[in-house]
Parts: sequence; structure tokens; C-alpha cells
Amino acid sequence: MKYYDKLIFDLSKEGRRGYSLPETGLTNHKMKEEVPSTLLRGSAPSLPQVSEVDVVRHYTNLSQMNFGVDTGFYPLGSCTMKYNPKINEEIASMPGFQEIHPLQPESTIQGIYSIYSEMEKMLSAITGMKYFTLNPCAGAHGELTGLMIMRSYHRNRGDFARTKVIVPDSAHGTNPASAAVCGLDVVVVKSNAEGLVDVDDLKPLLGPDLAGIMMTNPNTLGLFERDIKEIASLVHKAGGLLYYDGANMNPLMGVVRPGDMGFDIMHLNLHKTFSTPHGGGGPGSGPVGVAEFLKDCLPYPHVEEGEESNLLYAKGETPECAGMVSGHMGNFGIILRACAYILSIGRQHIGEVGYMATLNANYVKESLRDVYKLPIPSVCKHEFVFDGLINDGAREGKEGATTLDVAKRLLDFGFHAPTIYFPLLFHQALMIEPTETESKETLDAFIEVMHTIAAEAAEDSDILHAAPHNAPIGRPDDTTAAKHPIINYRDLKAEA
Ligand SMILES: Cc1ncc(COP(=O)(O)O)c(C=O)c1O
Repeated sequence: MKYYDKLIFDLSKEGRRGYSLPETGLTNHKMKEEVPSTLLRGSAPSLPQVSEVDVVRHYTNLSQMNFGVDTGFYPLGSCTMKYNPKINEEIASMPGFQEIHPLQPESTIQGIYSIYSEMEKMLSAITGMKYFTLNPCAGAHGELTGLMIMRSYHRNRGDFARTKVIVPDSAHGTNPASAAVCGLDVVVVKSNAEGLVDVDDLKPLLGPDLAGIMMTNPNTLGLFERDIKEIASLVHKAGGLLYYDGANMNPLMGVVRPGDMGFDIMHLNLHKTFSTPHGGGGPGSGPVGVAEFLKDCLPYPHVEEGEESNLLYAKGETPECAGMVSGHMGNFGIILRACAYILSIGRQHIGEVGYMATLNANYVKESLRDVYKLPIPSVCKHEFVFDGLINDGAREGKEGATTLDVAKRLLDFGFHAPTIYFPLLFHQALMIEPTETESKETLDAFIEVMHTIAAEAAEDSDILHAAPHNAPIGRPDDTTAAKHPIINYRDLKAEA
């Protein structure tokens, strides 16, 4: 073990400090007088006692054990791990943005409110939705907000029977989960042999109990739902609303608008399509857009123009609205970065993003289909799904290499793994989304490695079963790691 692979607690030395602050003059006695006893600690916190250089090395080393889009190609399907341009960070770190507080008087944050307002207008122009709320803090949070809007709409009209939400079998797991959290009943519609929503399977599900349908377009197989106009008309005729999961908006941006396809409500993942950091790299943002007739159902607070003055203000709760979904108005720093991204690309060029993302995905797909199984061979949009290796090396007494093995082996070559075992339609799903920000050289290097791995599997799958060979950790028990994570020093010591 290298010295700095140690936990920071193991580097701790009694009395060592990385700072020296002036005395506060606040004695323990005085503190007890000033702070309510329920808020006072019983004992000092257990913190590592280390110097500044130890702290810097600790975090720098940790960051190097991680994988990020700034360190390598990250083709994680459905997640749109595009490059996060540094101009976004530069703008977000300007003091005028950093040193504000959400409880400041409204007259002092008019500039911030106008960014909200401008951003809503830009998202409306991109999506064809009339109004937006920027309050939700993730894609799944946007889904929940959108469904709350859907529910409010039906309830405001006195229609309490509409509790059913239709979700395709290819949907992301958050779709049915959000509907269930919203108290709605989930019904699944099947995909047809082409991987698209089966309209014949949909028809009998439509009725007076229908609240709406949730769809992703292109769907999670990277395929455009070309029957969307017919589906929209059937759902609307049955009195339901159409919800668009905008996680896959990247290939359509500036080209096709969900509002024009017939959707009534949608969310966007700013941390995907609009280049802000996500996952472990930062907070998310899931703005929700609605058609004009749903404006009153938007959650509060919402930036509006004052009637008597020209000041913008945050409109509060109304009886029709869907309620409040986040403290204040969402993750402003992320909204700002996404705003910088849109403005830096500009109206003339925003439509090129989707074309490049689509071209890159098809290039990788076509270059690898000779060694990986391609269950749906049509032209894809921004991503596509393989169903494992064509020759996985399985023979008498030897198990073949799985999708998990391929994913783990990729790490040895310095590439992040694609999304695996999702969507659930295929047993060995391997979902690849290169994004538009990768060069042909990077894609070629990835293609070459994927060919190397396929050749290794065919020859001797053991090398794949044992991968990764040079990552900081190999194969943790994923289920235990997710269900019982040990994330603090005390639990780790207790476990040891
Ligand atoms: C299709 C789809 N919908 C919804 C989500 C949920 O978004 P978030 O992770 O921001 O909650 C994702 C995330 O990967 C997704 O791919």
C-alpha cells in the first residue's frame, strides 16, 4: 500500500493543524448561554488532525482513483456524459453569482431573476413547451414534478378518477418509480419487435381512468418513436396527458421539439443535454416544461413580471398549483452553467449537437456489430444497445464472457464502461452513448479496444473474468455496496 492510500484518519496526529485562526473570544460558558442546549454537541467531533498538505494530497489522490469525463472517454448510455466546458465554470464562479443569498431582498437579485426568466424562454424555444419551472433538482425529480402537475390538472377539473399512468417496458426505472411516488398506478405497454411502443398493445389501456403516458423519445434503445403523433392523438382522445422524459433530448436539440410531437409536460436533465456536471460530479437540475393550458399547475415559487412595477418577483402558492418541490428555486449554479452552455453554442449551432451525437453513435455501432450482438439493427439516434458478445468464448467446461466482464475489462484500457444490463429488454445489454464531444480518434481508439476485448474473450475468457487488472479496486459486491455502504471511518474500523 502506498503511504497516501491510507485513510486520512490513519494519517491523523494529535494536535496537528492545517490552519491557525484568531481566538473567537467565545468561551464554552458563553456558548452554552447563547446556543440552545438541544443544538449543542455532547462531545467534540471526531475529525482527522492533519496538515494542509496532507489534506491536499488526500483529496488529490482520491480524485485520481476516480473516473471522470475530464480523465477519459465515458460512453455511459442514457447518461449523456458529454464534456463540461470550462467556460461554464468560469461564469458560475463570478463573485456576483457566488456571493448571493436566496433570502436577499428581491430588488437586489433582479439580475438573477432575469437569468431564470431568460433561461425559461430559451428552454421553451428549444422544446416547444410554453412555460418552464427550473425548481426540480434532478431528472427523476422533474418526473415527479411533472406527474404532480398532471395530477393537479385532472384534480383542478374535478376529475379524480384519472390515476393510471402508462409506461413503456423499455422505460428508465425512474419513470414507474416517480409515478408510484406520486400515488399513481403504473401500467406497462409493450414494445414491438422494432423496439418501439406497440400501438396495438396501447389501445386497450386507454380509458376514463387514464391520467397520462410517460415516454422517452428517442427511447432508451436510442430509437425514435415514429408513431408518436398517433400515440399523442389516441392518448388525448382518451382524456390523458403526454409526459416526455427529456433525458434523451440530446439528439433532438435544435432539430425536433417535444411540444410539436404532442407532449404536454416534460423534463430536461441540464446535467445531460446541457453539459453541467452530474453523478458524483455535482448537483443536478431537471427543469419541467408545460403546454400553455398547464401554466397554473406549475409549482411555486416562480419568477414572474410584476404588474405594477417592472421588477421581477417570485410568485407564491396558488390553489391550482402543484405545490413546492424544492427550497427556493432549484440549483441556481447549475441553471447558470446550462445557460452559459446554450449561449456559448448559440442559436445557429445548437442544432448541430444532435447530428454529431447521432453520427458518433452510428459510427461506433457499425464499427462493432461484427463482434457484438446487435438485436435491433436500425439506424439509432444518440445511443444503441448491444446484447453481449457474438463469440463469448464459452465452451466445454468454460463459461463465456459476460457484459459485466467486458465492462470491467474496458477499465484496464482507460475507458469508462458503457451502461450495462439496462434496458431490461435484453439479458446482456451493453448500452453505448459516445456523445458529440468526442473526436473520431477517441472513437477509433475505443472501437479498437472493444475489438481487442472481443478477441480476448473468444480466445480465453479468463482474462475478462478476472478484470479489471489495474484499477484501484476490482469487483466489489455491488448489491452489498449499494444496500449497506460503509462510508465512514468508524463503521470501517468496526467492520475490520
Ligand atoms: C431515460 C432516463 N430518464 C430519467 C433519468 C433520471 O434522471 P436523473 O438521474 O437526473 O434523476 C435518467 C437517468 O439516467 C434516464 O436515463
